[in-house]
Parts: sequence; structure tokens; C-alpha cells
Amino acid sequence: MRKLIVLMMIVLFAGLTICTFAAAEKAEDNYKLYCFQCHGTKGSGGGINASYLTTAPRDHTSAADMKKLTDDNIFTAIKEGGVAVSKSTFMPPWKSILSDAEIKDIVKHLHGLCKC
Ligand code: HEC
Repeated sequence: MRKLIVLMMIVLFAGLTICTFAAAEKAEDNYKLYCFQCHGTKGSGGGINASYLTTAPRDHTSAADMKKLTDDNIFTAIKEGGVAVSKSTFMPPWKSILSDAEIKDIVKHLHGLCKC
């Protein structure tokens, strides 16, 4: 019985670990698919569209800039767009494409980019 419980805990732990990695990978894929064109392939703000915008896309690799934003602020900016956080309309809303869970995973991904 005890061995069975230990085995079940190992399986559960392995499952949770795999889910965490899968979520992180999905967030990176979503970022590449939807955010690269403005925020750049490294997230530093120099995407292919950036030079056509009157407001520069946020540099997601800048710890100094990203530290000024709370997770709620980042979440709202991604879900509802720049306007919802009194920023540029060039930052589009993603709520019709990304689920709340996917946006939360992207917020974590952004913390990885700025290492903050
Ligand atoms: C069409 C260009 C464009 C795309 C695509 C885009 N952004 Fe942005 N984003 C911007 C611009 C421009 C700003 C700067 C807004 C400002 O400072 O007024 C911005 C700002 C942000 C901010 C900072 C908001 C704040 O409060 O300062 C975050 C976070 C962000 N974008 C995340 C994302 C994510 C995640 C994606 C992909 C799902 C994405 N953006 C796609 C243009 C874009």
C-alpha cells in the first residue's frame, strides 16, 4: 500500500513537471507567433513592424522597464490591449485569441526575458 502511494506521488509529480514545461514551451510559441512582429525576435522591441509605429513596442528584456509593471498590469495590457492601461493603441488586445491561462503563462515568459 505504501509503495503504491509513493508510486502515485512520483507519477503525479512527473505529470506536474511535464505540464509546467509544456506550458512554458506553449507560451514561448505564442510569443513567437503573436508578439515577435512588434516586440522583436529577442523581445527587445525591434520587430519588423516596430519602425512603422509611432510608439516603440516595450523592450521586454529591459529589467528596469519591466520592473515598473505589475503582473496585473502586464496581464491587462496583453488581454485588453494598450488602451486598457493608458498606453498606445498599437499594442493590440489578445483576448479573442489567447485564453486567460495562456496570457498568464506569457506573463511568466516575459519575466524570463527580463530576468526580473
Ligand atoms: C502591432 C504591434 C504589437 C504587437 C503585435 C504586440 N505588441 Fe505589445 N506593445 C506594442 C506597443 C507599441 C507597446 C508600447 C505601448 C506604450 O508604451 O504606449 C506595447 C507594449 C506592451 C507591453 C507593456 C504594456 C505597458 O503597460 O507598458 C506588454 C506587456 C506587451 N506589449 C506585451 C505583448 C505581448 C505579450 C504580445 C503578443 C501576444 C504583444 N505585446 C504584441 C505593440 C505590439
